[in-house]
Amino acid sequence: MQLVRAHVLVCGGTGCTSSGSKQVQEALTKELEKHKLEQEVKIVETGCHGFCEMGPLVIVYPEGTFYVRVTPEDVPELVEEHLLKGRIVTRLLYKAPVTEEQIPTYKEVTFYKKQLRVALRNCGSINPENIQEYIARGGYEALEKVLFEMTPEQVIDEIKRSGLRGRGGGGFPTGLKWEFCRRSPGDLKYIICNADEGDPGAFMDRSVLEGDPHSVIEGMAIGAYAIGCREGYIYVRAEYPLAIKRLKIAIAQAEELGLLGENILGSGFSFDLHIKEGAGAFVCGEETALMASIEGRRGMPRVRPPFPAQRGLWGKPSNINNVETFANVPVIIMRGAEWFASMGTEKSKGTKVFALTGKVNNTGLVEVPMGITLREIIFEIGGGIVGGKQFKGVQIGGPSGGCIPNELIDTPIDYESLIAAGAMMGSGGLVVMDETTCMVDLARFFLNFTQAESCGKCTPCREGTKRMLEILTRICEGKGVPEDIETLERLGRVVKGTALCGLGNTAPNPVLSTLRYFRHEYEAHIYDKRCPAHVCTALLVYTIDEEKCIGCGRCLKACPVGAISGEKKEPHKIDPEKCIKCGTCFEKCRQDAILRL
Ligand SMILES: Cc1cc2nc3c(=O)[nH]c(=O)nc-3n(C[C@H](O)[C@H](O)[C@H](O)COP(=O)(O)O)c2cc1C
Ligand code: SF4
Ligand code: SF4
Ligand code: FES
Repeated sequence: MQLVRAHVLVCGGTGCTSSGSKQVQEALTKELEKHKLEQEVKIVETGCHGFCEMGPLVIVYPEGTFYVRVTPEDVPELVEEHLLKGRIVTRLLYKAPVTEEQIPTYKEVTFYKKQLRVALRNCGSINPENIQEYIARGGYEALEKVLFEMTPEQVIDEIKRSGLRGRGGGGFPTGLKWEFCRRSPGDLKYIICNADEGDPGAFMDRSVLEGDPHSVIEGMAIGAYAIGCREGYIYVRAEYPLAIKRLKIAIAQAEELGLLGENILGSGFSFDLHIKEGAGAFVCGEETALMASIEGRRGMPRVRPPFPAQRGLWGKPSNINNVETFANVPVIIMRGAEWFASMGTEKSKGTKVFALTGKVNNTGLVEVPMGITLREIIFEIGGGIVGGKQFKGVQIGGPSGGCIPNELIDTPIDYESLIAAGAMMGSGGLVVMDETTCMVDLARFFLNFTQAESCGKCTPCREGTKRMLEILTRICEGKGVPEDIETLERLGRVVKGTALCGLGNTAPNPVLSTLRYFRHEYEAHIYDKRCPAHVCTALLVYTIDEEKCIGCGRCLKACPVGAISGEKKEPHKIDPEKCIKCGTCFEKCRQDAILRL
């Protein structure tokens, strides 16, 4: 084995690739060659490290120096200073948002401090295209252990005792699900990994597949052994080309080493794994629709029962789990159920990965122990609200979830607390909102998504979401009537209770939760024809404060429709008939003389 004195980890996740990490890697290769360092320093392309916003990320080991927003132009200095002379290039270090303090290693960055990386344990630390790196981190030891030291029942028992619950949204106990499928009669069974990830803004499953595909493959093989099946599918959306590429490489490498396929490690257990590329429809994430899609039919849900564990893929007992659920399995086997159960809350064990986005200083992927509060995530890991604005609420769980207001910021994140607050874990999207977010508009955004993604099979979802969307649009356009609120609530309850599948059952959540916590905003739109967050264009009025206006004419010149008039050094005026409410004047005025009401 080649021994090197330094490893340079370059993030090759989708986020960093789009901000130029490939070019950084190429520049590094050239520069190392130039200094004849290629035998001494090894470049490793990793998967996502979570802090995509700061990408491209480069971490230099053994010190663990954490460089952010590295460009190819920075590379000569980085090589010369750090790798040749051993001096840290301070200008490329991460700077703490408020204190501007430069932080040398990633473990000291507040974004990482409260995180606990279990599902993401290898993401950003290994080359996902090299199985040896996974094995060097203890990979496939759990599979070996279950095959040679444990019965399938013992595996199920271990997973049950760990308290692991599905990370795909519903939070069903994984061990119990495996047991149902194992007990279901039939020789031919299937195990399926749900990597559809249709929630807007969510990218945790993609990151696990891109950064550590073997953890999912190993988790699936262990599940297959426990259930008693020899064939599996990973259903992944075609929009995830890098994840698919890395999965294909990983499957081929595992097959080559006898970790997949016939008679794994000579244990007598065989397991084949296939990839099914989906077209990227949100409803295909629903289990029965997903199976229809694998079978080559249109991805439409069907009534349950029979449940997939009874009649699943091609009519055979099948078990579906989420990517993150599977990624947790090998560690549970190696470190034990008690270790896993020691993290989290009484009913929600372990950790959960969230995609933290919106009006928060640090965005990216975060993995935290269950039970952590929203405040800790938003203000400690996330570094607070952008521009010091007021925190208003957080949409958790994507279109299936709901909004949690400022008053509930100390809510612990676990399955039950979120449901009690009218939200849902969902797949783990966390969108932070400040005072500039209109909650009616936000509800409309999510409902617009679910309405467009409804498969149309059942009337409550097909018609109900359409009518709800019409009402929300009307309110945002200033045409809302007092009965709208009650109609929305009634319709929401009906759709939730009567739709055929989870898409319809959860679609009203964003509307109902914003009505629960932000009803005053709906009322302001309907009764006062006012959007308190100044978002709904139709409700905005621009006027000029004569006291403040100095008649500089900046607004007059900038207005695209000539709605502003006035003499130089005299107060100007806006013609409401002509004004198209684009807000250009508001942005141009340096005297704060333009009022937006
Ligand atoms: C409309 C809809 C979309 C879904 N999308 C996903 C998804 O993208 N990924 C996922 O794992 N689960 C998704 N689910 C949940 C799955 O149907 C299923 O419950 C989950 O994959 C089970 O795995 P788990 O027990 O490991 O959570 C979706 C459910 C619905 C109703
Ligand atoms: S609830 Fe919506 S998505 Fe689900 S089956 Fe009915 S129409 Fe299709
Ligand atoms: S830009 Fe402001 S100060 Fe200048 S004319 Fe317009 S309103 Fe008055
Ligand atoms: S893609 Fe590089 S940190 Fe996420």
